[in-house]
Amino acid sequence: MKLLLGIESSCDDTSAAVVSEEGRVLSNVLANQDEIHAPYGGVVPELASRQHLTALPVVVERALSEAGATLEDITGVAVTNGPGLLGSLLVGLSYAKALAWALSIEITAVNHVEAHFRSAWIERPELSYPALGLVVSGGHSHLYSCDTCEETLLVAGTRDDAAGEALDKLAKRLHLPYPGGPVIDRLAERGDSSAVPFSLPKMSGGSLDYSFSGIKTAALFYMRKNGLEPERDISLEELPQWEYDLIASYRKRVVDHLIQRLKKAALLLKPASMVMGGGVARNSLLRKRFLELGEYLEIPAFFPSNTLCSDNAAMIAFKALTLKPAPDFGASLDAFPVARWRRLAF
Ligand code: KG4
Ligand code: ZN
Repeated sequence: MKLLLGIESSCDDTSAAVVSEEGRVLSNVLANQDEIHAPYGGVVPELASRQHLTALPVVVERALSEAGATLEDITGVAVTNGPGLLGSLLVGLSYAKALAWALSIEITAVNHVEAHFRSAWIERPELSYPALGLVVSGGHSHLYSCDTCEETLLVAGTRDDAAGEALDKLAKRLHLPYPGGPVIDRLAERGDSSAVPFSLPKMSGGSLDYSFSGIKTAALFYMRKNGLEPERDISLEELPQWEYDLIASYRKRVVDHLIQRLKKAALLLKPASMVMGGGVARNSLLRKRFLELGEYLEIPAFFPSNTLCSDNAAMIAFKALTLKPAPDFGASLDAFPVARWRRLAF
């Protein structure tokens, strides 16, 4: 039996996984670095790469033992080589190359964002193509269209901030704990989402691109205009009502924007399925609205379970099953911080 060892270290999560050639996840071990970056309110690249160096061997060993495998059983290695933080990517890529060379096994380089898109098929292999997918993470808010599992065309990107970045930035401004996305999601339940009227951005020329910088500025203006200043070191259960209302309105507006563009794209492209992936795809309101849209349009809609939405190595190994391994044990493979995709013409 062929067994792939997946390795992911593109940002601040170190992960290793073992996946069989049929796409069965035998283990998927994650070590996040939230505690290390929390004091800074965001990822510090140098600290992230140093931590990957320490965590990676431990995480790989655990992934192998949870899968009941040893390095001798591994027939190939799959590794993220971009997009992401260059230093972090290089740690995983160098490790994977060394492993492939030492064991004389195949190595496949995987695009992190395309792996998020494809991750829906891990739990739902029967999902049909052509598929329309929303990948929403700390660095990406992109819509992709795929006719087959080997193709990824960009339908819409973000003109400025990503959705996760917008949520994390509001959280930072309100002195909420890091990372902000999950906290915002929880606290939004206590607020009135119609309290702060945020408008949706308009794009010229029928573009479906996203933009999240406007809402961030609008939230800051709203606070300044109304003389609202968040307190530090206050219990999250005892925030003033204006903060809960602002958080709820902000979350709703971010989700409205994501869903509005997705709906337009789905009406235009008429996909056979819709999928969603990336850290922000864990957001409870986004999940609800995504499923409602699927029902309304009568298109099967699916997002992976929480662990497979986060940065994880199972999705990297799973995506590699559709790709060609690199020659010469990956000797000429390099890491790339930014990715570009071919745009779908419509
Ligand atoms: O995909 P991911 O784990 O890492 C990147 O590739 O960026 O996404 C991280 C992002 C962060 O912005 C985090 O705040 C956000 O996902 N996030 C959430 C939730 N859980 C994580 N955003 C909204 N609601 C959540 N429940
Ligand atoms: Zn990600």
